[in-house]
Amino acid sequence: MTDTTDLAIETEGMVKVFGTNRAVDGVDLRVPAGTVYGVLGPNGAGKTTAVKMLATLLRPDGGRARVFGKDVVKDADGVRGRVSLTGQYASVDEDLTGTENLVLLGRLLGHSRPAARERSAQLLTAFGLAEAADKQIKNYSGGMRRRIDIAASILNTPDLLFLDEPTTGLDPRSRNQVWDIVRAVVAQGTTVLLTTQYLDEADQLASRIAVIDHGKVIAEGTKGELKASVGSGSVHVRLRDPERRPEAERVLRAALKAAVTLEPDPVALTATVDGHGTDLGAAEQAARALAELAKAGITVDSFGLGQPSLDEVFLALTDRPADGTPPPNPDGKGTTA
Ligand SMILES: Nc1ncnc2c1ncn2[C@@H]1O[C@H](COP(=O)(O)OP(=O)(O)O)[C@@H](O)[C@H]1O
Ligand SMILES: [Mg+2]
Repeated sequence: MTDTTDLAIETEGMVKVFGTNRAVDGVDLRVPAGTVYGVLGPNGAGKTTAVKMLATLLRPDGGRARVFGKDVVKDADGVRGRVSLTGQYASVDEDLTGTENLVLLGRLLGHSRPAARERSAQLLTAFGLAEAADKQIKNYSGGMRRRIDIAASILNTPDLLFLDEPTTGLDPRSRNQVWDIVRAVVAQGTTVLLTTQYLDEADQLASRIAVIDHGKVIAEGTKGELKASVGSGSVHVRLRDPERRPEAERVLRAALKAAVTLEPDPVALTATVDGHGTDLGAAEQAARALAELAKAGITVDSFGLGQPSLDEVFLALTDRPADGTPPPNPDGKGTTA
C-alpha cells in the first residue's frame, strides 16, 4: 500500500508563494498510477499552481514533489518526458486546421509525416472532430476547441496527463464528450490528474479526490470516504399526490428517525438516513420507510437512495458552498484574476 513505485505523483509539503500569498501552502498528495485523481476546489484555491509545479513549469518554494519517482526540480527533464499538460493554456495554432495542428505537433514530437498523419486522423475521429479536420481552429466551438487541446496533449500517449479544468465553461453536451475522452485516455493506461471546480465532474471521473481550499488539502479520500465524512446518505421520494406530503413527512420522520426536507417540487421529499451502517443498512432502512408509506396508503411515484452530493461534502468541510458557477470567460483563461 505504501509502495511508492505505484504512485504517479507524490508530494510532501509542496509550497508556492507569490509575494505574501501562499498559493499552495503545504500540499501532500499521493496519486496512484492508472487512475483519475480529482483535485477539487473553487477558483483561486491553488489548483493550477500545483499542476504547474508538478508539470515542471513552476519551481516549488518548499517541500518535495515526485512524478513517477522523479523529483520535479532535480530531474525536471525526466518528469517532462512522461507528462503532458492541457487546460488553461493553449498549444494549438488558431490559424491552422485541426489536421495541420496535430500533424505539426506530431512532427515536432519526432514522428514521421505518415505516422503523424495517421495519428492525427485517428485522434480527430476518436474525438468526434473528423468533420472539422480541415477547418481552422478559430472556427471551432468551445467544446471542439477543448477536445482538440486534449487530442494535442496525447499525440504521444503520456504516462501522466494533467487536465486543468478541462470543461470549465462548456455546455453539458460538450462536457459529456470530454468526460468520455478522459475515460478513454485512462482505459489506455494513462494516469490523469484532473482539476475541477465541478463537484459532479470529480464524482463522474475520479476514483480519489483531494479537496483543496486556500492552497491546502482540506479533505482527501475515495468518493465514498469523502461522502461518508458528511455522515449520512439520503432518500428522495416523489409522491403521486402533493396533498399527502405532510402525512408522508410524518411517516418518513417516524420510520427513519431523521430529518426530512420538503423540496421545492411540491411532491418531493428528501430524508437523511444515518451513515453509520453499510449501504445495505441504508437500503434496508429506506425499504422499511417505503413500506410504511404504502401502509399509510400514500402512493409513491419514484424513489431513490443516494449518498450525499459532493456539494454537501464541501459545505460540511468549509461551512460554505463551493462556487460551482462557471467563470465568465468561456475559454477558461483569466479565471484566476
Ligand atoms: N503568476 C502568479 N503571480 C501571482 N499570483 C498568482 C499567480 N498565479 C496564481 N496566483 C495566485 O495564486 C492563487 C492560486 O491561484 P491558482 O493556482 O491559479 O488557483 P486555481 O487554479 O485553483 O483557480 C490565487 O490567489 C492567484 O491569484
Ligand atoms: Mg486554475
